[in-house]
Amino acid sequence: MTRLDSTSSLISNSTRPEDILNLPHRKVNSICCIGAGYVGGPTCAVIAAANPHINVQIVDVNQSRIDAWNSDVLPIYEPGLAETVAKSRNRNLFFSTNVSQAIEEADLIFVSVNTPTKKSGMGRGFAADLGYVEAATRQIAKIAKSDKIVVEKSTVPCRTAQSIRLILEANSRSGVHFDILSNPEFLAEGTAIQDLMHPDRVLIGSQDTVAGFSACASLAEVYSAWVPRDKIITMNVWSSELSKLAANAMLAQRISSINALSAICEATGADVDEVAHAVGLDSRIGPKFLKSSVGFGGSCFRKDILNLVYLSESLNLPEVAAYWRQVVEMNEYQKFRFARKVLHSLFDTMSNKRIAVFGFAFKKDTGDTRESAAITLVQSFAEEMASVAIYDPKVEERQVWLELTSNDTDIEAKVKERVTICNSALEAAGGADAIVIATEWDEFKDTNLNYADVYRVMNKPAFIFDGRSILNAGVITDIGFKLHTIGKGTEGRFE
Ligand code: UDX
Ligand code: ADP
Repeated sequence: MTRLDSTSSLISNSTRPEDILNLPHRKVNSICCIGAGYVGGPTCAVIAAANPHINVQIVDVNQSRIDAWNSDVLPIYEPGLAETVAKSRNRNLFFSTNVSQAIEEADLIFVSVNTPTKKSGMGRGFAADLGYVEAATRQIAKIAKSDKIVVEKSTVPCRTAQSIRLILEANSRSGVHFDILSNPEFLAEGTAIQDLMHPDRVLIGSQDTVAGFSACASLAEVYSAWVPRDKIITMNVWSSELSKLAANAMLAQRISSINALSAICEATGADVDEVAHAVGLDSRIGPKFLKSSVGFGGSCFRKDILNLVYLSESLNLPEVAAYWRQVVEMNEYQKFRFARKVLHSLFDTMSNKRIAVFGFAFKKDTGDTRESAAITLVQSFAEEMASVAIYDPKVEERQVWLELTSNDTDIEAKVKERVTICNSALEAAGGADAIVIATEWDEFKDTNLNYADVYRVMNKPAFIFDGRSILNAGVITDIGFKLHTIGKGTEGRFE
């Protein structure tokens, strides 16, 4: 095993055994998860359901979030989550704000707090803000009276485990030993429970010491309650941390690649769905994550790639940084290109026109709006003086205002002059000149929504801009709509 850093206390000094999962290890009886968010909540709910003998406490500083976890209306919408929580809540799964008590009682602690991109200072706009991880770590150090396994669940920059170790060692009581593991989460929102129940792999990174391997085996045992052993893989902690960033960067890169091709399709008359199908049939490439869209969103892709860019720059690898940065730039271009297409099609003016935006979440089956392409689109239509009517089946109204105004009262006044939020697709379309499909919710498909009714309530010519390629072009154009679908041009097509 390579020595990564001669000054590091996490250096390799033992050879990684083949059968780590069978090594003697401590049984985990009590788990604490710090951070009751999109990652911590679903992950630990599934762990609790599969391990009825383990006491699982999910804690958060946010009282209203914890109250929601303890109520019938959970703080996040995720198919199957409510049923999973119901199985164990108040049996072996507890939600509370008593962070200290949960730390004290736990054998194993997941750190599952937010790691947003830094807004100021060195690395702003790129580097991850590790303030929340550090605060949680300091609290663990202060409270722990017995040995703990501390697990990084949040996506963190490569080598964060070393910072966690330094803080723990410098601030803990004497005689208390900590093992630090990296166990990145690969769930995607909207399919979180499915992804957790049937993961492609569970990744555990540990320090290359006997104690590290043993901690690894303890955590692996928790997962082996429902995950086949051959899907639980172990590696050194740096590889594990980097693998999470790498997986997200490679996934986002596929979307930017197909979106780059969508621009060529629109200009040539090729059809991006057909191209993606043909390309994806190559077993070396595969069919997933080749759906062209108005641009990727979500809390991870942009943040993790920028993190990788920052890492590359700090390692003095500018070409590597530029390579990954382009994935994000292509995504910005895709949103801009789509907004420009809408404007051109509406005869280059949006003033006094109503644009119905179908969907505000960053993808279907979630109420999450972080980095959603819809935000950029609505802002650009509002700047063109359009009146924008938004409908999303799961996004709460206050969340839309938060995204569009960032809680700034001056911006809020201006935005509210231009933007309204509707209770149905039909209501949003009433009096509209154009519909923009920003999220691929099933209810926006022409098999579920009666587009003839929608057509009747719109101004004519009635345009639809399908940013998710979910509509059947024949059905929509037969009704009378003018349709533009991402990656499907008419220019240059052989008629
Ligand atoms: C992602 C990773 O998939 C997950 O493994 C990681 O743990 C967290 O980040 P998530 O952001 O929840 O998950 O959703 P994902 O399904 O990856 O979608 C991200 C964005 O890409 C969405 O806006 C989605 O609409 C878009 N997308 C996805 C496409 O535009 N085309 C595709 O083919 C797939
Ligand atoms: P993710 O998508 O990574 O799960 P979220 O923002 O949804 O991120 O959730 C992170 C949660 O962590 C938030 O609810 C936040 O209140 C919580 N949190 C942050 N710092 C701490 C801390 N020191 N102690 C307890 N909870 C924390």
